[in-house]
Amino acid sequence: MTDAQRNETAVRVAILTASDRGAAGQRDDLSGKVIMEMVQEQGWQVVSYGVVPDDRTLLKAELQRLADEVKASLILTTGGTGLGPRDFTPEATLDVIHKEVPGLAEAMRQESMKKTPHAMLSRAVCGVRGESLIVNLPGSPRAVRECLEIIIPAIPHAAKLLRGAVADCGLPDGSREPE
Ligand code: MTE
Repeated sequence: MTDAQRNETAVRVAILTASDRGAAGQRDDLSGKVIMEMVQEQGWQVVSYGVVPDDRTLLKAELQRLADEVKASLILTTGGTGLGPRDFTPEATLDVIHKEVPGLAEAMRQESMKKTPHAMLSRAVCGVRGESLIVNLPGSPRAVRECLEIIIPAIPHAAKLLRGAVADCGLPDGSREPE
């Protein structure tokens, strides 16, 4: 595969951290760094990285920009999925998506509950806007690692589906596409 072909097929990832303290420069964005490392380990391309305050309007505008202008195939948010008074990431995501992809959030919660009962407190939402898949991850570096590990195996196929590059998920011999 040439470099040009590899770039064309690579998952284009935007990382968006929702954190009041992070945006004010009062906290190092360790969770964003974990995402960056894990994404690069997969050979995916990071096309954008940013930190915004936990503000629904700002989050919504940034999600729209990352999908419509940056054209990221995968937008990974971290933070703001809990029950705190400034947790708005799922609402901002619901404001911008065209279709929900509940299986991703269900899988993250289900698998994470084997590690901590607090996983059921994440209100993470996943969905599609245009050709972008938006995935809400919780805020702590550990939670980010645990959740991202769960969904990574499904992402390349999701990106292909979004590009319209899959005519039929089943192969003619009845087998599945390799993971
Ligand atoms: N999921 C996993 N895998 N591991 C965790 O440690 N923490 C939970 C949950 N999901 C956790 C997790 C906690 S403590 C909370 S409050 C919610 O995610 C929401 O986190 P957030 O508000 O930082 O997004």
